[in-house]
Amino acid sequence: MRVVSGIQPTGNLHLGNYLGAIRNWVRMQDDMGERAQAAEDGSAEKNAQCLFFLADLHAISMPHDPAELRRATLEMAAALVACGIDPSRSVLFNQAQVHAHAELQWLLNGTARMGWLNRMTQFKDKSGKNREGASVALFTYPVLQAADVLLYQATHVPVGEDQKQHLELARDIAQKFNNDFASEDAPVFTLPEPISPPQAARIMSLRDGSKKMSKSDPSEMSRIELADDPDTVMKKIKKAKTDPEPLPSEEKGLEDRPEALNLVTIYAALTDKSVDDVLSDFGGEGFGKFKPALGEVLVETLRPISERFTGLLEDREALDAILARGAAQARQIAVPTLDATYKALGLVRG
Ligand code: TYM
Repeated sequence: MRVVSGIQPTGNLHLGNYLGAIRNWVRMQDDMGERAQAAEDGSAEKNAQCLFFLADLHAISMPHDPAELRRATLEMAAALVACGIDPSRSVLFNQAQVHAHAELQWLLNGTARMGWLNRMTQFKDKSGKNREGASVALFTYPVLQAADVLLYQATHVPVGEDQKQHLELARDIAQKFNNDFASEDAPVFTLPEPISPPQAARIMSLRDGSKKMSKSDPSEMSRIELADDPDTVMKKIKKAKTDPEPLPSEEKGLEDRPEALNLVTIYAALTDKSVDDVLSDFGGEGFGKFKPALGEVLVETLRPISERFTGLLEDREALDAILARGAAQARQIAVPTLDATYKALGLVRG
């Protein structure tokens, strides 16, 4: 079992990333440690491993400021460690230090089809009306994402709902490559499975329940950032858009109330309860009672994370060392697959 996932270092880590992805990464890392310990020597579980990376190569697909990218990459590394990613148990690195990612992307460009990329909704969303002005990197972005996971023979890829389409594409690329260039009993690539946490796979904006919470939303009030102090968290929750109705006692009652559903979903995810369980506690109550309760749970969850985050940011050398060590480990794992890909394609390399 090999778990691989990434996050773009653009802006600060927010609650959507945390509940939709990172918290699940930490759980998988912990679970993996237990499996490895329980496994008999030599069994496949002994090699159970997690790789988590900062997708800095993906970040250049949109206009960006180089100094800001450098800062955000280190901050995101600190944020991941603060959330519980332990660099001595998981491989933590940034793509730019492992050139096999960019190399494999080029090799897979021969297999990916224009029609497949044309269907990607993220490209449509991010390029908007200005398709002609979008970067080529934004279009081929999902091929790099496929390379990210196929390079390590990932079996499981924890992601939020919004990334599932990209994972499907990675499977399509792997399958076509194996069909075209490998024999059935010796495939070059493993087909990765996307996995989303049951709750909170999609956390929405606090200002608009139809848009996902996102780093690129111009309004800071639309998202909770992991480094927000308690006053800011309370203020953002208090101002979060809702409706005047009291909460229903079952999830069905939230069908046409996306903002209310989002807040209840966040509460449920933070307390590891189902939406129905939360509603059985708060059904009939208005937001005047629910919002302060949610704010408190949030503040308590974020407090230890933001304390660790601040401490880590002060030690730049330690952060550099974590990423360099992770990159060295990642390179080693990547080499056999990269070599096998060149060979399968008939490329001569001395
Ligand atoms: P990114 O950086 O946008 O987001 C990182 C992870 O957070 C999840 N996420 C959310 N989940 C729930 N609700 C939200 N509002 C929300 N916003 C973000 C995302 O689903 C993701 O799991 N292309 C990827 C990064 C990437 C990657 C990869 C992921 C590059 N290569 C290989 C997995 C495997 C991205 O931009 O995620």
